[in-house]
Amino acid sequence: MASDPSSTHSLPPALPPALPWNARILTLFPAMFPGLLGQSLAGKALEKGLWSLDVHDIRDHAHDRHRTVDDTPFGGGPGMVMRPDVVAAAITAAASGMAEGTAMIYFSPRGRRLDQALVRELAAGPGAVMVCGRYEGLDERVIDQAGLMEVSIGDYVLSGGEMAALVLMDAVIRLLPGVMGNAQAHAEDSFEEGLLEHPLYTQPREWNGMAVPDILTSGNHEAIRQWRQAKAEAITRARRPDLWAAWQARQKSK
Ligand code: ADE
Repeated sequence: MASDPSSTHSLPPALPPALPWNARILTLFPAMFPGLLGQSLAGKALEKGLWSLDVHDIRDHAHDRHRTVDDTPFGGGPGMVMRPDVVAAAITAAASGMAEGTAMIYFSPRGRRLDQALVRELAAGPGAVMVCGRYEGLDERVIDQAGLMEVSIGDYVLSGGEMAALVLMDAVIRLLPGVMGNAQAHAEDSFEEGLLEHPLYTQPREWNGMAVPDILTSGNHEAIRQWRQAKAEAITRARRPDLWAAWQARQKSK
């Protein structure tokens, strides 16, 4: 292409990453996706191609007439266990052609607790294959053989991994480049610095007899920063002694 020296060149707008963050979901309930993530911020980002979603029905990999995916646990006990042969075949199909470095996740209350550090790690990678279990869970052998990282979203028991997958994806998607307008907003999120967020106020300045703290309308940015920092520290200390201890330890080692 011939260049035109008379034209004024400006930089082209920043391109999104070559490949959008790719979510591959394995589930017995494919209609649950994108679900909530088809709306609002994540839904718009999906339409814009900032992330992509492939949903695989585990049942498609059953090999009998009844499309059986589970069986009774060896050793006895309540409930049913998802068969390793069926789930492994589904994983092989779903993982085909995935980018190197894609996370391989199985949602389980036994797993590593999802936190903002893990969310950031996942958002920095090419995507995740996410296995959503049902019934009592997966046969242990398929977890081992496929090298699945078990992830929990908290100390309570869900009826399956689908909600956990939606939670994880929501947290990742809002960090992807281009999804949220203001990158600075992330720096002030709860947990980004290891502290809970300071209180927020907006109009009206006086509401139900309660005024906005004067400092926030003072125009003194440094004083506002210090006030917010002090509030974030006080709230973290009062509500989350675990986060407060970790934050204090980090400050000491700085
Ligand atoms: N499956 C069932 N309960 C779960 C939890 N708390 N986190 C992730 N996956 C789950």
